[in-house]
Amino acid sequence: MALTPAMQNEINRRRTFAIISHPDAGKTTLTEKFLLYGGAITLAGAVKGKKNSRHAVSDWMEIEKQRGISVTSSVMQFQYDGFCINILDTPGHQDFSEDTYRTLMAADSAVMVIDASKGVEAQTRKLFKVCLLRDIPIFTFINKMDREARNPYDLLDEIEYELGIKTYPMNWPIGCGKEFKGVYDREKKEILAFTANNGQREVEATEAALDDASMKERLGEDLYQTLQDDVELLDGAGYEFDLEQVRHGKLSPVFFGSALTNFGVEPFLESFLKLTSSPLPRKTESGVVDPFDAGFSAFVFKIQANMNKAHRDRIAFMRICSGKFEKGMEVQHVQGGRKMKLSQPQQMMAQSREIIDEAYAGDIIGIFDPGIFSIGDTVCSPGMKAKFEGIPTFAPELFCRVHQKDTMKRKQFVKGTTQIAQEGAIQIFQDINSGMEEVIVGVVGTLQFDVFKYRMENEYNVEIRMENLPYQYIRWIENEEIELKSLNLTSDTRKVQDMKGRYLLLFANEWSIRWAEEHNPTLELAEFSR
Ligand code: G4P
Repeated sequence: MALTPAMQNEINRRRTFAIISHPDAGKTTLTEKFLLYGGAITLAGAVKGKKNSRHAVSDWMEIEKQRGISVTSSVMQFQYDGFCINILDTPGHQDFSEDTYRTLMAADSAVMVIDASKGVEAQTRKLFKVCLLRDIPIFTFINKMDREARNPYDLLDEIEYELGIKTYPMNWPIGCGKEFKGVYDREKKEILAFTANNGQREVEATEAALDDASMKERLGEDLYQTLQDDVELLDGAGYEFDLEQVRHGKLSPVFFGSALTNFGVEPFLESFLKLTSSPLPRKTESGVVDPFDAGFSAFVFKIQANMNKAHRDRIAFMRICSGKFEKGMEVQHVQGGRKMKLSQPQQMMAQSREIIDEAYAGDIIGIFDPGIFSIGDTVCSPGMKAKFEGIPTFAPELFCRVHQKDTMKRKQFVKGTTQIAQEGAIQIFQDINSGMEEVIVGVVGTLQFDVFKYRMENEYNVEIRMENLPYQYIRWIENEEIELKSLNLTSDTRKVQDMKGRYLLLFANEWSIRWAEEHNPTLELAEFSR
């Protein structure tokens, strides 16, 4: 069945983006304002809740509430001006940058929120760099202009230097903090004067031309003159706006504003929707799948168990890449080699879930997972022969040995470690000669250990003991026939197996890796798993 014009229109109007920021830069506040404009919520504050229960709708895990950080990503959909927009929230902490990367795989563009007083924060470099790995358009929102902010030129320089991406200011701030008077829209060549607002939907906007005499009085002589000079400088010395470069993640359009006071959010959203594209084609092992292809196809980018304690279930999140999804349709699970119906298809608004009847390319759906899906798996219409390129795992850099405290809880211990590893929240390894009494857990960031321990205790009811191990590097052994016993390795190198039974070596330092390579000429080591 070919897609009807109405279905094509549905796909055309979809925009799917991830929102990323350092904790506290204002990601939640900005998301809330988007939802407010889209009518998905009616009151500012509905997403964020009160200070003493400080967590967003998108934060559902206890640990997130306690620490005030977002550990897991969630999805929100809203309508605005004829567009159907899917926002993918990402964890704000660099320790979860692998999760951010997987979420970015499901997005067609990213919005990066930066605190104007802090710029690119040291701890977040890694997170933002992950964005660049995906080559998707990156839009920057420099937030909190209503507070004391750093010089805008310095902020742009820093983004360019730290992240290696060119910037193009779409608007330019006029003052900051108490002196924040608005922004100058470079495309419209208009001043948008700021009127303090308590964050609600209606914003009083005053627009005026750059040479409007009344503006001199409103902005004050100094700011008015500075703006004239800035505009001249930007037009003369800045990069040209180039949509092709934006689309390839080489040039980031930058917007200044203040999410809390609702200034510059709607113009940002409008401009963003104009510059981003509808769902993009995706690569498969046998060619490219176009979103407008009649066949349905999707891939799993996230698996999350026990999202809701009352449900105790496991949800596989899929990004639809082509066609239309209909409830009850039969699909092929490519990796599992079988036909199936996707049960309980749902769209999420954090804790609330809604069973859906249909969804289109660009949308994210959650599917009840009885334990058959892995991250990166493809589902598609039978006979479609699509297999999306896999999602690489990051090499863990921190390791610890984990035991259950109570030996009677072995079953729960195995279930918990395996399920959490299947979600991609940790990686687990085993000594080649030991059973599952103890496992070696590898992570990219130390907070992942805390989440793992917390979840084992709260979701699986198993107390665990964790012991740090001195390893820092991991290498998969590529040659399948190699005799492990015959390997000549330093005494601090450890042989382990991953969940798929592949052999690996854990090294304490680079010197040991070189030793292994020099003393075992036939040994082939790989940094990433195949
Ligand atoms: P995050 O999701 O990126 O972690 O940041 P979030 O939106 O939670 O914002 C972090 C803090 O920054 C919040 O204050 C929020 O109100 C404030 N904020 C966000 N945008 C702006 C802005 O444009 N201007 C100013 N001045 N502040 C902003 P909080 O005191 O930590 O929490 P709450 O009391 O608002 O709940």
